[in-house]
Amino acid sequence: MKKTIEEHAARFDALAAAYDESASTEYRACAALVIDHAAPGSDEVVLDLGTGTGAIALALAPDAERVVGRDISEGMLERAREKAAADGLENVEFGYGTFREPAYEGNGDDARVDLVTSNFALHHLADEEKREAFDMIAGLEPRKFVLGDVMFFGEPDPDEPFYDPDVDDPATVGVLADALTDAGFSLTAVERVHDQVGVLVAERERGRET
Ligand SMILES: C[S@@+](CC[C@H](N)C(=O)[O-])C[C@H]1O[C@@H](n2cnc3c(N)ncnc32)[C@H](O)[C@@H]1O
Repeated sequence: MKKTIEEHAARFDALAAAYDESASTEYRACAALVIDHAAPGSDEVVLDLGTGTGAIALALAPDAERVVGRDISEGMLERAREKAAADGLENVEFGYGTFREPAYEGNGDDARVDLVTSNFALHHLADEEKREAFDMIAGLEPRKFVLGDVMFFGEPDPDEPFYDPDVDDPATVGVLADALTDAGFSLTAVERVHDQVGVLVAERERGRET
C-alpha cells in the first residue's frame, strides 16, 4: 500500500461529497457488470468491501436478504447511509472495516456471507496485501466473489487516467487470477471494460478448505 489506511481514508473523506458525480464511463460500466454478475438471491447475504458511497451495496440490496458494506472512510460511509435512508432500504448496513479485517460479525447466530463484491477499491492494496485479502474473503466461504477494479490487461499506458501511481497499486489480470486460484477460487468470468479496467468473477465450492 502506497499510503496508509488513514491517508486513504482522509483522501476519500475529502472526496465523499462530490464522489458520485465524478464517475467515468468506464467506472459506470464496471459497476454495472459487478452488479449483474453478483445477482444475489432473495435469501443471500452480500458483503461489499471498499463500499464507498454504496454504489454496489445499494444496487444489490433490493434483491438480497441483507447487504453489509465496509469501508475505511467515514465520509464515504455517511454518504452511503444517507442514500440508503433516502431509498428506504432497511436491509443494508454500513460500517468501518478493511479488506483484511472487515469487522463482519454476521447477524446474531447467522455469520453467513453468500457473496462478496468489491468495485474500484482493491487497487489501493499492494499485491501481497491483495493476496491476504483474498485469503480472508475465501475464509468467509462465499459461493462467489465479484471483483471490479483497475487491473492491467496489457502493458499499462502511464498517460491513462485510471490510476494515480502515487496512491494506487493495480495488479495485472494474471497476478489477480493466480492469487484468486491460490486462495481456492475458480475464475468463471473475465470481463474487460478497458485495457486497465475489468471484472473478475471467482467462485468457490462451499465447505472447501482454502
Ligand atoms: C474509488 S472508491 C470505490 C467505492 C465503491 N466501491 C464504488 O464502486 O463506487 C474506493 C473506496 O475504497 C475504500 N478503501 C481504500 N482502501 C481500503 C481498505 N484497505 N479497506 C477498505 N476500504 C478501502 C476507500 O475509502 C473508498 O471509499
